[in-house]
Amino acid sequence: MADIVLRDVEKFFGSVQVIRKVNLTIKDGEFVVLLGPSGCGKTTTLRAIAGLEDITSGEIVIDGKPVQNLHAADRDIAFVFQLYALYPHLSVFENIAFPLRATRQPRSAVERQVRQVAAALGIEHLLARKPGALSGGDMQRVAIGRALVRRPKAILMDEPIGALDAKLREDMRMELKRLHIENKSTSVYVTHDQVEAMALADRIVVMHDGVLQQVGTPSDVYAHPANLFVAQFIGSPVMNIAPAAVKTEGGRVRLALGGGAAAFEMPAELAPRLSATGAGGALSIGVRPEGVQLAREPATGTIDLEAHLIEPLGAYDIVDLKVGEGFLRARTPAGFVARPGDRVHARLDPAQTHFFDQRSGASLGIRLGA
Ligand SMILES: Nc1ncnc2c1ncn2[C@@H]1O[C@H](COP(=O)(O)OP(=O)(O)OP(=O)(O)O)[C@@H](O)[C@H]1O
Ligand SMILES: [Mg+2]
Repeated sequence: MADIVLRDVEKFFGSVQVIRKVNLTIKDGEFVVLLGPSGCGKTTTLRAIAGLEDITSGEIVIDGKPVQNLHAADRDIAFVFQLYALYPHLSVFENIAFPLRATRQPRSAVERQVRQVAAALGIEHLLARKPGALSGGDMQRVAIGRALVRRPKAILMDEPIGALDAKLREDMRMELKRLHIENKSTSVYVTHDQVEAMALADRIVVMHDGVLQQVGTPSDVYAHPANLFVAQFIGSPVMNIAPAAVKTEGGRVRLALGGGAAAFEMPAELAPRLSATGAGGALSIGVRPEGVQLAREPATGTIDLEAHLIEPLGAYDIVDLKVGEGFLRARTPAGFVARPGDRVHARLDPAQTHFFDQRSGASLGIRLGA
């Protein structure tokens, strides 16, 4: 096991820069997920760590040793691809045993290690089969077994369960998590699925256009997104984002949305804290649907809004409330709003309201009630 350090890593393909000044330390035994949209540079970063791709500048250090001049085979790192890449003519046993063959260990030692990994993955009963006779999930278990069997310093996975159906992905997600808890291998895992990232990661690295946007625990990136990109990439349904203006009247502070169509009460501390940031420019606020709180009766700080659309999702509903020309999406108990056109009383939970500089997109770091 080992830690992995990336220092000022940059990568160009021809004149196109796809990785920009990436600095990241992955701790020994940590499970880190690289998360971002298609084309943001996740696979390139992973391949650079593995040694399958040269970097243009910067440094990659594994277990204390710079590895730029080491070939992939000499970095002692295992790679699991999205497509299983098993040897079709070899049995499951031989596929898993393959990386051990080069080590010239006695047959009994190889057998013991293969059986141990197969037991951990629940595929002992498949050892005699050929890959052609396996389901997609089992093929991927075999690919993971092959990566784990020689106990590499780190295991890198590029969307390893991306090709599976939704139910199987959920099962495999749990298995990968359990396996990591048992093995504690340093793991770097690539996905564009934020739910997968939240479920698996010790820390999530959010990438966009080759730039690290934020590195943090799942709850950190969810509760305190560093910018508008992260705010909208993490969480489903997505966070409401709207231009906003702060109005102070007779000591009361309000947040005006939809060009003034709705003015939500905020704690008085908002005004001084906003000025303290020195951000004089335009403001955007973000609030997740669970931060838009609805009531049937008017109460302190609520305003009256019309429900436009109701999306029943089983355990809860997502209700679109009309605010000026736009909408504010609220998460409610199932059936809370009976039909479109009904009016409800809404407030924004200040503790769940995020403030961003509209131009740069950066969070202003204001946490109300904190
Ligand atoms: N060998 C290559 N030559 C030229 N450009 C490349 C090469 N490999 C990747 N790219 C470009 O680099 C950028 C990053 O690609 P990368 O595969 O790392 O993205 P990704 O985040 O893994 O995306 P996805 O989620 O679609 O797999 C993309 O714009 C891609 O087109
Ligand atoms: Mg990729």
